[in-house]
Parts: sequence; C-alpha cells; structure tokens
Amino acid sequence: MSQPLQGERILLGVCGGIAAYKAAELVRRLREAGAQVQVVMTAAAGHFVGAATFQALSGRPVRDSLWDANAEAAMGHIELARWATRVVVAPASADAIARIAHGHADDLLATLCLVATAPLAIVPAMNHRMWLHPATQANVATLKSRGALAIGPDVGAQACGEFGPGRMCEPDAIVAALVAAHAVAGGDPLAGQRVLVSAGPTYEDLDPVRYLGNRSSGKMGFAIAAAAAELGAQVTLVAGPVHLPTPAGVHRIDVRSARQMHAAVLGALPQDIYIGAAAVADFMPARVAEHKIKKPTVSSDSGLTVELVRTPDILAEVAAHPQRPLRVVGFAAETAALADSARDKLRRKRVDAIAANRVGVTGSGFDADDNALDVYWRQTDGSETMAALGPTSKAVLARELLQLLLDRVPAAPTQDTP
Ligand code: C5P
Repeated sequence: MSQPLQGERILLGVCGGIAAYKAAELVRRLREAGAQVQVVMTAAAGHFVGAATFQALSGRPVRDSLWDANAEAAMGHIELARWATRVVVAPASADAIARIAHGHADDLLATLCLVATAPLAIVPAMNHRMWLHPATQANVATLKSRGALAIGPDVGAQACGEFGPGRMCEPDAIVAALVAAHAVAGGDPLAGQRVLVSAGPTYEDLDPVRYLGNRSSGKMGFAIAAAAAELGAQVTLVAGPVHLPTPAGVHRIDVRSARQMHAAVLGALPQDIYIGAAAVADFMPARVAEHKIKKPTVSSDSGLTVELVRTPDILAEVAAHPQRPLRVVGFAAETAALADSARDKLRRKRVDAIAANRVGVTGSGFDADDNALDVYWRQTDGSETMAALGPTSKAVLARELLQLLLDRVPAAPTQDTP
C-alpha cells in the first residue's frame, strides 16, 4: 500500500462539534497513509466522541489537558509540539479558530498551536452563519496569512437542518489535501540521498569467549537511521552488537569488531552523508587466542598482559576517502573537556561536524532514551560554531540533528571522484 504521508507526525486537534465523529475515520485514513497521529481533544470534543475511540485508532493515549501530570511526565506539551511535523485541527470550530488566530494558550490544543513551528492545517466545521460571520472570516484570513492551510468547508445540508458552507470535508479529501501539502513542502528533504550511519559498540575478541567492549546501546545511531529514512533517504545502517529492532525501510549490516565495521562502512561508499555514531574501540588485542585463555594451574601472582594495537579510524578514513561523502559527521563522547575535544576532532579528523554528547545532563548518556548534543561545525568562512540540541528524546534529537545538517552545515566541496 502506498504511504504518501510516511514520516509525518501529525498532531490532530479535535474540537467540539458534530463533525468530530468524522475525525475518527480521519485518524484511520491518516495512519493508512503512513502518518503517526497524536490526538488532542478539546473539552467540548469529549461531548461528541469518546477518547477511547481515538486511542484505539491512533494507537496512542489521547491528550486533553495541560494539567494531566502523568501525560506531561511522559511527554511534556512543549516536546509534544516539537514532535509534530504537522498540526491539523479537524473539526476546527469557530471558537478554536478564533483562539488560535489570537494566540490564546488557555487549553492544551491552543497552547500546542502557539508552541508548534510545524505547518498548521484547519478543517473548519460549523453552522454556515458562524462560518460566514466576518469575525470567523477575519480569523481564517489571519491564519492563512501566516501560512496555515484551510481545507474546506464543504457546502451542503447541515446537522442543524440548514443548508450552506460549513460542513467538514470528508476524510479522503482532507488526506488528499495533506498529501499535496506534504509533496509541495518537500516533505522528503532527504529524498534521493544515500545516508550511511554506524551505530552501537564494537566487541574486540580476546579469545573465543571474552571480548573488550563498551556500554554504547546504539539507540542514538538507530534513531538517526530511522529519522533519515522518515525524511526520505536511502539508509544503510552498520550496527555493532546491539539488541535493537531495525528501523522501517533501513538496510542493516550487522558487524562485531572495529575491523568488520571498517570494512562494512568503506564497502558501503559512495554515500551522500556519513554519520559515525558508533562507539568504535580504539584498541584491539594484537592476537585472538584460538582457545579460551586459561588461568595458571599453579597458584601464582602473575597476571595477564594483553598486547593491544590500534584499530583503524573509520571516521577519519571516510573523511579522507576519494569517494568522501558530501557531509561526514562524527560523534564525541568524553567525560571531560568536551568542547575542546570536539573542536579538536573537527580539525583532526577533517569532518564537517562533530556531535558531542553533552555530559552532566540527567537522563542522557549511553543507554538512556534522552540525550543532549552540542554540535560543532565550520562555517563557509572557516570559523567554527556550535548549536546546542536537546535535552530531548533521541528520536526528536535525531531529526533536529539531520535538519541542522541540511539547513546550516555547509557541504564539503565536491571531490574529484575517480
Ligand atoms: O577520537 P574518538 O574515538 O573519540 O572519535 C569519536 C568519533 O570517531 C566517533 O564518531 C566514532 O564513531 C569515530 N571513530 C571511528 N573509528 C575509530 C574510533 C572512533 O570511526 N576507530
């Protein structure tokens, strides 16, 4: 089935009005079109349709209050607004349109509309006299002048027994209008681009049962691969040993050691973007014992000395490769002097950007679901700059990182590829 809204995360505001029943069908159609849908109901909407219906159809608990401590703890309203790639209000009542146009923040939906920077679509549904009133027309004009899309209303028989403009458009027509807006807005900013991501730890074997590893969970790299696929890229994910599902639409290559990761990453070139989010071991045992290393049978104080040798620096090799991607991004995970080491890596490894895990942020780090990044890059005039992203979920952060790469980080000059 074609999914023209794949990658869209739609905040669907449902207002009080008889047309609210059609919003249930709209949720179903939006999901069939590939969008994720988070329903936000106004207080009046609950008089027309139950939250359980929307919850079942959207697969997410409905949000209906600014003051729901549990829901806010799971995802605060600011984060919810940032999560959205599109805000759709359907049905949009005359009152909701007025409050959104005037910047009110007295309920959850109005507040989200004020916070969200994602494009807004309203699907008006009201009595035709309310629709034709100059106040409503002025409010709709205000929203349109700010870039909002108004879908409908249809003209026809109304629930009140009157006839005129004010009927909410049918779900199919709403989805079609959103698909068209998605295509015009270039909803797939990475369409046609090849993105290579490396993620997770590497394990360097000492013998058949022991290895040197690290605590990387791979969550950040997997989130980046998922976000790149959602933005339309053709994504290859080289994954170290992790227990994470493969994101939809992503080609995954599993590896274990730094050497295997090196071979897989270089073998996947050419690419347009490389993001090295893996925690690659810097050293590996010089030799892998063929059999399990035994402890001495005679008691003695002697320990075991293992000779370690350097692993290949995958990131630096990709950045120096004749088929260098246009954008090469590395990660920095240090416990001290983060800024200095990030800037140093930017220069030494000749990459276009370094995303440094901000230390000291609660809930961030290797196995956490949230993270915060300081991204360093060089501008076209050669000066270095930094943007702080998060703290937020790794999913949102991944999207913000890709957006920053596309919008602000200059691509390296094209290489003379043989
Ligand atoms: O120098 P450092 O290892 O701290 O740099 C981290 C960055 O370099 C990360 O992006 C990591 O994926 C990459 N790296 C690599 N190959 C190595 C070591 C690190 O690609 N052997």
